[in-house]
Parts: sequence; structure tokens; C-alpha cells
Amino acid sequence: MSFVFFLTLSLVGLLSLESTVSVRHWQWAAESRVNTLGNEDQVTNLPGQPDINFKHYAGYVTVNKENGRALFYWFYEATTDPEQKPLVLWLNGGPGCSSVGYGATQEIGPFIVDSDGLGLKYNPYSWNREANMLFLESPVGVGFSYSNTTSDYNKLGDDFTANDAYTFLHMWFLKFPSYKARTFYIAGESYAGKYVPELAEFIYDKNKDPSFYINLKGILLGNPETSDAEDWRGLVDYAWSHAIISDELHNIISESCNFESNDTWSNDDCNQGVEELLGQYKEIDIYSLYTSVCIGNSATTDEKSTQITFTYNSKMMPRIMGGYDPCLDDYAKAFYNRPDVQTALHVSDGQQLRKWTICNEKMYHDWVDSKSSVIPIYKKLIAAGLRIWIYSGDTDGRVPVLSTRYSLGSLGLRITKAWRPWYHQKQVSGWFQEYEGLTFATFRGAGHAVPIFKPSNSLTLFASFLLGETLPSAR
Ligand SMILES: *[C@@H]1O[C@H](CO)[C@@H](O)[C@H](O)[C@H]1NC(C)=O
Ligand SMILES: *[C@@H]1O[C@H](CO)[C@@H](O)[C@H](O)[C@H]1NC(C)=O
Repeated sequence: MSFVFFLTLSLVGLLSLESTVSVRHWQWAAESRVNTLGNEDQVTNLPGQPDINFKHYAGYVTVNKENGRALFYWFYEATTDPEQKPLVLWLNGGPGCSSVGYGATQEIGPFIVDSDGLGLKYNPYSWNREANMLFLESPVGVGFSYSNTTSDYNKLGDDFTANDAYTFLHMWFLKFPSYKARTFYIAGESYAGKYVPELAEFIYDKNKDPSFYINLKGILLGNPETSDAEDWRGLVDYAWSHAIISDELHNIISESCNFESNDTWSNDDCNQGVEELLGQYKEIDIYSLYTSVCIGNSATTDEKSTQITFTYNSKMMPRIMGGYDPCLDDYAKAFYNRPDVQTALHVSDGQQLRKWTICNEKMYHDWVDSKSSVIPIYKKLIAAGLRIWIYSGDTDGRVPVLSTRYSLGSLGLRITKAWRPWYHQKQVSGWFQEYEGLTFATFRGAGHAVPIFKPSNSLTLFASFLLGETLPSAR
């Protein structure tokens, strides 16, 4: 295993004056345009698409003209009464992983990529039953999103991502002006545990200027990376309490690793201990402890899908691809590299194809800044009165339920409704606790990408979140 070290920097994301001016310009331009720009992006001939009764749109939004940066989005209107329903932006993590490949086509979108890589099947638990769902491949270099200026790829980090995502939203509202004042939420999982609060804070700060106003009401996070120290501590304790590592190894790591320090990995005992822990996880799916790993046809595929990428110099946690059908990543790759699919999604002309991968590993390794903790942002957003819900699949070893609980503990919020089960179809779906300003819920027996494992339960939680209602607390 190769270890690369890089530093974690915390930079404050700010729009440059230049882009602020451009946003003003777009703002003005919006008013002078007709409401039909987005129609060009309507998807009408997606190969293998099941019959549906809603519209969907896909294509590029330019976020920086000078450098030629364009982000790819896929937008599904709600199945019923789209004009009455909120708008929800979904982000997957990585950094470097695709919201289209994971969120849209494995988790919560209306079309799930079929196991032959040839078609799609309808997902009856798609979140666009409850909201208009916008999936964004972010930042440039993820999925179909690109920059014509290669040096942009050396600058990618949390701040760059938040900046471009913010610009994207304003540009997207130009295409779809009827959504501009709509109730808006941001949701995501995994490393989006950083992206989502960061973007929410960005929007909140910019909203002080009425011409930039976005009607952000809340955020929803699944198995989110939140605070590096708490996340690591949770990962280690969870591995021990779920019989992945021995008492002896747990003791060594507990004694030698100081995850609070900015110097954690300079301790050799800590390094070796964590390496041994991750070595155990290489044998199984860290994202879903009790399901099988993908044993692909080719050795390389197999290796890729079970590999843990771990970089010491980032404090970011490893990402491996996993899920209920752990080979789904391969099906998605086959599907999105088809010429007819790329044409239908307005990605390419079907001749000059764009190479699509589900995660960009180089991006993960080259990431320049990652906030070590978004806990201070939580405090700010709670004070601002935003709705914040966090859910956690309790069989994920990667951002385990313990990590999230350690982070919540450090927030020190007052409990308003004590720990109790929540129910779905007469069974305990998980447990939840309500705090002043935050709701936390678990999913019993779900891995990292919760909706893959518990699609119906997830839709129920999503609906409760949108309504701001307590989860079903009786059988
Ligand atoms: C990137 O370059 C290509 C080829 O010149 C051009 O067609 C495309 O519009 C550019 N993208 C952006 C976002 O400017
Ligand atoms: C680590 O923390 C120490 C003490 O707080 C500080 O002096 C040092 O500059 C930090 N190092 C890095 C690389 O951030």
C-alpha cells in the first residue's frame, strides 16, 4: 500500500470580486430571458429508459467562461405536482465521485442502472416522488464535468468546489427560472458531509445580498464525514466493536494515535496500527460489513472495487466503492460510456466521447484543501435556523454511526426527544434522537449508501425531513 502525505488546510471560501460581478450580471440577464432555456436540455431518447410521467433534463452549465469550466447536471422533475414541490440538490463525495453514478443511478434517482449495463430499471422509491431532484457532478474532473484549462485540476479542494457549485446554482436558475425562489434543500453523503455544510454556509453568507438570494431551508446528510478527529476515532472503535480487529490492535491504536493532532501520522505505531486495521477492511466491504464484495470477471476490476485508497497526508478517510450489488459501479461505467447514452444526455455528439468513471482517484489524491471539521459550520447553520438532519446506516465501517455520534457529542446540543426507535412497515427501521436544531436517525442494517440498502425506508425519512415532521414513532 502506498502512503502519500498531504496537508489539510482550512481556507475560507470566498467568491472573488470578479465572479461576484459576473453573478450580478447573470442575475440581471435572468430577468431579460424567457423561461424556456432549460428545454434544450430535456432528455427525450435515453436508451433503455422505462416509461415515465415526468420530465427530466441533463447537460452542462458553464461556471467559468474564461477557463472553460462546465459542470454536468441531471435534473428530474417531481413525479407529481413539480411546481408545488421543493428543489433538492444531491451531492456525492469522494472527493472525486459522481453524483450521477452513485446518487442518481444507484441510490435515489428514478432510473437504476441494470446489471447488464445495457438498460435502466425504474426505481419506485425514487426521491423525485417527494421533490424535484437535481444531481450535480462536482467539481470539474468528476464524471462528465470538465475544465478546458488543465491547471484548474491542480486547484481542486473544498473551497474551489463550493465556489463552482454556488456559481452553478445561479447559472442553473437562469435555465430554470421557475425554481429560483423555490424552497431549496441540499443533501448528500460521505465526503459530501463536508461539501453540503460548506455550500450551505456559502449560500447563507451570500444571501445577505438580496440579489443573490437562494431560498435555502435545510440540509440532509447521510453517513457524513464531519470532523476528522471524531471520524477516525469512530472508525477505529467501530472496527473493534464489530470484531474486525483484535483488542490488542485496538489498544495499540488507542494509545499511539492522537487524532486531534495535526501530526497524527508522524507516529509509526499509529501508522502501522491503522494500516493493519485497513488491511482487515481490504478483505471485506468497509462500506457494508455484512454483504459480499464484487468478485469481477477480470482481476483488475476485482482489485479496484475492493481497494481502499488511503492517503496519510490527507486527513481524508479512505473511499472504496461498494453497495448492495457491489458490481454496480461497473454497470454504471459501461452505461455512461455508450455513445447513444452520451448523446441523449447532451454530453457529446456521440463521436468525440467523454470518458466517464465513477470516481476520479487522482482528484482524491491531489485534493488541496479539506476542512478538518465542519462542526463550526453546523453551529452557524443551527443558529440560522436551518433544518439539519443526519442519518446513518449502521453497518457502514467507513463513516460509522459511532463517528457521527462522537461529532454530535462534541456539538453538545440539548436533547428535545430522547433516543427511541422509528418504524417502517411495522418494523424498527432504526433509532432516532431529536436535538435543538438537529435530528439524528439510524438505519438498522444499512451500509454507507443507505438508500441502496433501504430504499423504501429512505424515502420515508426523506418525506419526513421535507415536512419537518418527527419520524414515525409507533408501529
Ligand atoms: C471547451 O473547449 C471546447 C473545444 O474548444 C469547446 O467546444 C467548449 O465549448 C469549451 N467549454 C467551455 C465550458 O467553454
Ligand atoms: C500544528 O499545530 C501546531 C501547534 O498548534 C502548530 O504550531 C503547527 O503550525 C501546526 N502545523 C501544521 C502543519 O498545521
